[in-house]
Amino acid sequence: MPINLTGRHFLTLKDFTRDEIEFLLDLSIELKQYKQEGIRDRRLEGKNIALVFEKPSTRTRCAFAVACFDEGAHGEYLGKDDIQLGKKETVRDTARVLGRMFDGIQFRGFKHEKVEELARHAGVPVWNGLTDRFHPTQVLADFMTILENKGCLRGIKLAFTGDGRSNTANSLMIGAAKMGMDFRIVSSEKLYPDSSLVKEARAFASETSGKISITSDIREGVTGADVIYTDVWASMGEEDKIAERIKLLKPYQVNMELIEKTGNPDVIFLHCLPSFHNLDTDISRQYPDICEVTEEVFESRNSKVFDESENRIHTIKAVMVATIGD
Ligand code: CP
Ligand code: NVA
Repeated sequence: MPINLTGRHFLTLKDFTRDEIEFLLDLSIELKQYKQEGIRDRRLEGKNIALVFEKPSTRTRCAFAVACFDEGAHGEYLGKDDIQLGKKETVRDTARVLGRMFDGIQFRGFKHEKVEELARHAGVPVWNGLTDRFHPTQVLADFMTILENKGCLRGIKLAFTGDGRSNTANSLMIGAAKMGMDFRIVSSEKLYPDSSLVKEARAFASETSGKISITSDIREGVTGADVIYTDVWASMGEEDKIAERIKLLKPYQVNMELIEKTGNPDVIFLHCLPSFHNLDTDISRQYPDICEVTEEVFESRNSKVFDESENRIHTIKAVMVATIGD
């Protein structure tokens, strides 16, 4: 059966089959090639896209904006102080208004329930550009980068070290289960993912010969890994937890010793970014132990973080083209 994602929301990878995720990745690869060759198909010609942001963003915002421009659409940025969204107007009403004016809506914010509420009432596709719980467009870019470097996803050993409850960890776990990967969360027991989500991921993995392991033992978690992935230890909205997270996660920092523990000289390092990897930012100067990855690893030949970052454009473009493109 040919895959058709027209009109679908993109809130979490739970809602997508392996074939549908593969379809989005194939389309992303095609769109990247077209962009590199200067071919402009304008697959979103005349579309209007609302870009709703409650939290800051560099990559996601710019990827949506550039993807819109490349394909002939107009992207309208709506920041947290620009619209009402739950303040003076219900999310449901804003959803119905935006849905009358736009062909698709990107939402980045805090509560996952808000993006679900938008999707219930907008009448047009809603794409999740990050909530406290999930970050599914990020995972498409991560998987695209793994494909570019390793040639496949099935059986790939992907170890996420750090905050095992983060939105990226949650989405990677679901995506990895769907794609038949060997996924490990390597974290302090205090930061293990929700057991109900692990149960769901394991149910998906049972259909794809995937594997989901959760461990606090670094050697056990990273041995044989093809990919080491980390994210900041305190996500947006968790600034008051920075000191506590440093204490819990310092042993899980991605450094050369951890990379060597994989026993794989061709292991690649991925990070959604932004990242603390030196003391050149205001926050890392304030908390010198905040670095979830060392400068040495971040700048090493194993690090593919900027390819991954670029792939946000191609994958986000694929999501929009697949759901609202002509
Ligand atoms: N990775 C990511 O989503 O980055 P931004 O927060 O800059 O969008
Ligand atoms: N977990 C991070 C991801 C940023 C892209 C956060 O939510 O801040």
